[in-house]
Amino acid sequence: MCGIVGYIGSKQAAPFLLDGMSKLEYRGYDSAGIAVLEKGQVRVEKCVGRLDALRQKLEGNMPESVIGIGHTRWATHGRPSDRNSHPHTDSSGKFVVVHNGIIENYLALKEELIAKGVEFSSDTDTEVVAHLMADLFDGDMESTVKKVLKVIKGSYSLVFMCEAEQDKIICTKKDNPLVIGLGEGENFIASDIPAIINHTRRTFIMSDGEIATVTKDGVWVQDIEGTPINKKVFEVNWNAEAAEKGGFEHFMLKEIYEQPKAMRDTMTGRVNAEEKTITFPELNWTSEELQGINKIFIVACGTAYHAGIVGKYYLEQLARVPVEVDIASEFRYRSPLVDGNSLCIVISQSGETSDTLAALRESKRLGARTLGVTNVVGSSVAREADQVIYTYAGPEIAVASTKAYTTQLLAMLMLAIYVGRLRGTLAEEQAKELVGGLASIPEQIHKMLEDVDQIKVFAREYGSCEDAFFLGRSLDYAVALEGALKLKEISYIHAEAYAAGELKHGTLALIVSGVPVIVLATQEDVYDKTVSNLQEVKAREAVVIAIGFEGDTSLAKYADHVIYIPKTGKYHAPLLAVLPLQLLSYYAALTRGCDVDKPRNLAKSVTVE
Ligand code: AGP
Repeated sequence: MCGIVGYIGSKQAAPFLLDGMSKLEYRGYDSAGIAVLEKGQVRVEKCVGRLDALRQKLEGNMPESVIGIGHTRWATHGRPSDRNSHPHTDSSGKFVVVHNGIIENYLALKEELIAKGVEFSSDTDTEVVAHLMADLFDGDMESTVKKVLKVIKGSYSLVFMCEAEQDKIICTKKDNPLVIGLGEGENFIASDIPAIINHTRRTFIMSDGEIATVTKDGVWVQDIEGTPINKKVFEVNWNAEAAEKGGFEHFMLKEIYEQPKAMRDTMTGRVNAEEKTITFPELNWTSEELQGINKIFIVACGTAYHAGIVGKYYLEQLARVPVEVDIASEFRYRSPLVDGNSLCIVISQSGETSDTLAALRESKRLGARTLGVTNVVGSSVAREADQVIYTYAGPEIAVASTKAYTTQLLAMLMLAIYVGRLRGTLAEEQAKELVGGLASIPEQIHKMLEDVDQIKVFAREYGSCEDAFFLGRSLDYAVALEGALKLKEISYIHAEAYAAGELKHGTLALIVSGVPVIVLATQEDVYDKTVSNLQEVKAREAVVIAIGFEGDTSLAKYADHVIYIPKTGKYHAPLLAVLPLQLLSYYAALTRGCDVDKPRNLAKSVTVE
């Protein structure tokens, strides 16, 4: 988490820093701060709260300098406050640093520094780095940074400036993202590309252990031993507007509406609509190759984990391979029985989630073949997995994941069809039927998004509730999990998802008069059983909003309200059924006056454990 920016050139640094930070607020927004070298001295301006609070603070008093660094914080060590905001300096104020990640041995280092007489002015782990710079300074910033790297442990992107060397910024990273943007007579540093895209498209991605010395006229990269590293520069081909709101009130709504395009883009080159086949040119697997795989592990966090659960249904039912799905933060601590016959699929929108990356690395260590499913080209997952399937959702800015989720579901369904055909577990006819159904999905989503008035009404009517429940069986249960997460994270309504048959084993005690229960009923093989569970909650006077297919005339007899989705196949249903849940969460959050795109305590990219 946390967003980092840096600028060196001949223009004013502060406006770039503030603009870049605004593009990175999705990474954290507990506080914001910048540091520049003004008249030869480090000047730090920072405060708790959103970037706007910093902008207000700087009004009429903007720092003047052509070199600077900035930071938006997602608090880990020390509560959000002015004093814990970044940048941090040493006691003399001559060395300044911004950091994304966690310095795991900061307490031991802090004690050593305190014993030497150093006084700390924050509760952060980061401050030790600034003091270490001062403590270890040998007259050369690069060599001092290397010394600091030898004593700190943990994960980090770090950006340094100091008064002694006014013509450079130094940055380095381990397990947290950092990109360099190359301009003409100016260069840029950022945690993510949207921060620099308005200024340059020429960029490269820093790898772990690399140290970059960034000056106005160039960037020099080396490793800790001083070996020079040649970085491959690439051109960002995104449209800058793709990362802006484009007329929508919130990024989340924009991203919900981008789902038809995201689906089409993710199918391009993979779905052959005429022949009704799936290919993955980037995998190019053969049936012989797959014979050795006797188990699949899917590992991910949050929404991506929910996509993994759907993926398990797909892969087990269509490709007949046993699949285990793990929450990434649990995976490596349970001694998973992964070996050379395992395929480990990690799913991550950002490709930078710390726990997911750790799971990927652990799987590789254990000899598994690895496959990343990610939305970000060049992300750590993309670089480290043996193979990668990109979802082409485009940049997802809202913290609440929507289009990334549906493209992940799509990727998993396409993968299951592909593997099912290769393994001979999926008949050609069934595969054709599945692919035929996929081709209609973008248009069906588009149609669903044309009229959302009914959902707005439900959100207004039930948006003030304190609890809500989501029920479903089979694939509907997997989607219910995502529906509950969406509602929780942006509207702060306590929401829980249950396999519908599980409710009576305890949770039914919570169903009282007026509690909204959203029941998904798209799975034909368990439909009757789901309806029975629906009636169990109705008997306790819950308000039931059911989600079913157009043409289903039964649901309305039992539920208080029904949201109809276009008729599709059972495996395609999750791709459509999640839409009303995303919209319900969005409009409930609006009703409650929540900050939809930046929900409290959360950040888009979780790069700490
Ligand atoms: C979902 O709305 C959240 N933003 C969160 O659960 C997210 O899916 C999770 O943190 C995983 O992120 P990733 O896909 O970037 O790895």
